[in-house]
Amino acid sequence: MKKTKLSLVIVGVLLLAGGCAPSRTETKSKQARAAERMIKASEGRLAPVYAPLAEQIVRDYKLADKGGIGIDLGSGPGSLIIELCKRTKMHWINADINPYFFPYFYKRAGEAGCSGRVSAVYADAQELPFRDNYADVFVSRGSYHFWDDKAKAFGEIYRVLKPGGVAFIGRGFADELPLELAKKIRAGHKMNYDKKEKAQELQARISQVNPCKKVRF
Ligand SMILES: C[S@@+](CC[C@H](N)C(=O)[O-])C[C@H]1O[C@@H](n2cnc3c(N)ncnc32)[C@H](O)[C@@H]1O
Repeated sequence: MKKTKLSLVIVGVLLLAGGCAPSRTETKSKQARAAERMIKASEGRLAPVYAPLAEQIVRDYKLADKGGIGIDLGSGPGSLIIELCKRTKMHWINADINPYFFPYFYKRAGEAGCSGRVSAVYADAQELPFRDNYADVFVSRGSYHFWDDKAKAFGEIYRVLKPGGVAFIGRGFADELPLELAKKIRAGHKMNYDKKEKAQELQARISQVNPCKKVRF
């Protein structure tokens, strides 16, 4: 497998763990409740996060006129996808381990005029249900810290990305989100990790699967 131009971008993170990651063994009702909580957060305190992040991703990776397939891994309510859909011509897939998000996601996508340009697929980051070289772009926000075997997940992302593809994996905010707004969104959500340390750890994991990486912090 040769993907010489792949650039995997791990974004040094500012933000929040949403506390909403059910494992495969958790019960239906737990997953349903986790989806409800995350949907509420996405409509509430996290609502200002998605549009600027989509704006940044589209600008940085020149997606505005690009077609093809984008996958949001751990997309949950799909709020980032909705914003990406509005700004691109791509087909976006909500790939999440919790299918309780999917009815809400389809409803919102329909309301936003994105029907026919989105799909939802039950997916575990560590064993993606997509063929090799399938996707042009991966995005993932607020999910990677829930993946038990990150090296395996990054390996899967690399396998599924087309040569030349790009993956934007991070935790939170667009670079230009005003600091005061970021603080307000984070209020009450203690982040007990060191940004630099976390970035180094992720860089090491990515090196395991792709020596051609480009890591931005
Ligand atoms: C904090 S929520 C973030 C949701 C969304 N990305 C957002 O920013 O609004 C974390 C998401 O990751 C998903 N998730 C957790 N572990 C996963 C895994 N192993 N594979 C795929 N999705 C996973 C959860 O179901 C949940 O939707």
